[in-house]
Amino acid sequence: MQVIKVKDYAEMSEKACEWFVGKLKEMETPVLGLATGSTPEGLYDHLIQKYKDGEISFQDVKTFNLDEYIGLAGDNPNSYRYFMNEKLFNNIDIKQENTFVPNGVATDLEKECTDYEQLIKDAGGIDIQLLGIGSNGHIGFNEPGAKFDGRTHIENLAQATIDANARFFDSMDDVPKQAVTMGIGSIIESKEILLLASGENKADAIAGVIDGELTEALPASILKQHPRVTIIADEAALAKVK
Ligand code: F6R
Repeated sequence: MQVIKVKDYAEMSEKACEWFVGKLKEMETPVLGLATGSTPEGLYDHLIQKYKDGEISFQDVKTFNLDEYIGLAGDNPNSYRYFMNEKLFNNIDIKQENTFVPNGVATDLEKECTDYEQLIKDAGGIDIQLLGIGSNGHIGFNEPGAKFDGRTHIENLAQATIDANARFFDSMDDVPKQAVTMGIGSIIESKEILLLASGENKADAIAGVIDGELTEALPASILKQHPRVTIIADEAALAKVK
């Protein structure tokens, strides 16, 4: 596990972009696993700029997002599909049909989960998986206690996650309580993983990943077992690492 320490969110986003661009240039048909949330927004802004500057192209890129809220359609501004379109896909040259986000309003959600796994397999697996981390150590929406060998499934969100997500919704009642998420087993099959973390509310989780033991109580601790993990984290997120 390689840990890159940066000063703050801005530097984390710049470094992550540098790292990503380097990887993209090495691959002919990259398959990327992407995340939503506040953490990758700065990285996405930089990637858009690199595209506009003519430095990179997404024409041969396929993407698979980690998760989607159940009950929110892609045209709902709080859905992760909407987020991805707005924050990245609509601003680069990626083909919309090469961008995959689980469908949170599928009539058969179980089938949606197995289909999603199959789509990833058909694409040849994920080359680079980008991850944020929940303050409770979740990755994707695999909450504490999620099985390390889990595949894409429906997850009941932890109260801490519901509380953290509430900032984006008008009322607590509107905050989704379930999501479709890639499982930890699916995530860990990615060939390479980049985890980003910024802010003191991530410090316990990051200390657990770096110094703590492997435990399903801290889903992100699985990263200890992956041979190619890079963590780019700021001083606040690394504050509790020994
Ligand atoms: C998002 C995701 C989540 C977030 C995590 C951190 O697709 O899978 O695991 O990465 O909840 O969220 P932020 O970045 O908003 O702190």
